[in-house]
Amino acid sequence: MGSTSKTPPRRARPVIAIDGPAGAGKSTVAKAVADRLGFIYIDTGAMYRAVALLAVQHGTGIHEPERLAALAESARFEFRRDARGRSRLHLNGADVEDDIRTPEIGRLSSPVSEVAGVRSALVPLQRAMGAGGGVVMEGRDIQTNVFPDAEVKVFLTATEPERVRRRRADLAARGIEKSLDEVLFEIRERDARDSSRSLNPLTKADDAVEILTDGMPVDEVVDAVTSLAVKAGAGGG
Ligand code: DC
Repeated sequence: MGSTSKTPPRRARPVIAIDGPAGAGKSTVAKAVADRLGFIYIDTGAMYRAVALLAVQHGTGIHEPERLAALAESARFEFRRDARGRSRLHLNGADVEDDIRTPEIGRLSSPVSEVAGVRSALVPLQRAMGAGGGVVMEGRDIQTNVFPDAEVKVFLTATEPERVRRRRADLAARGIEKSLDEVLFEIRERDARDSSRSLNPLTKADDAVEILTDGMPVDEVVDAVTSLAVKAGAGGG
């Protein structure tokens, strides 16, 4: 009774939150949707990977949460576009995009992302990056934690064999050959960690649209997400 409205002002352009397990095709789809709409693409996983890279560079172990949190708090993250328009993460002013994509950093980023102090350093930065809308943000907790009020929430997934196939193809494209079993083991381990941790685990928001991408051409997935965004006021298309 008599309470003032607490509804925040609507963003002029929507936030599109894309979450899902490793190998579901989030990056490919999120980048393409951002390009189509002229939105900014933000890969939050890259930020956790960057903290893992800092940990390696500083000789900090995953069982040193205070030191990991301090590394995350003092780091400067910036997504810049290269000459070909591709988004690349700059960490403390240096382009680290290639360094954070190694299997070693991928493995390490999962336990690093479980550290409460790391998450509490990165989540406010992610919220600030998306506050004005006009962003496609991908990760594990975007629709449930970073932007629970996102105008568009998509949970992108694929069956395990399909995710293994895609991850192997991604690695092969970068000259890294791995057996089916190796990739299967890594994907299972990472998904189990990302989904079972106590803090902001990977889960689908109740109001998210789930897309199972097996057998779907990328363009079709991009069309589906773009049309959700247009319905939510993104314009373009
Ligand atoms: O999407 P990716 O593989 O680059 O993410 C690296 C790790 O970071 C992954 O193990 C899960 C974690 N992560 C997270 O906890 N929350 C996010 N929003 C994004 C990634």
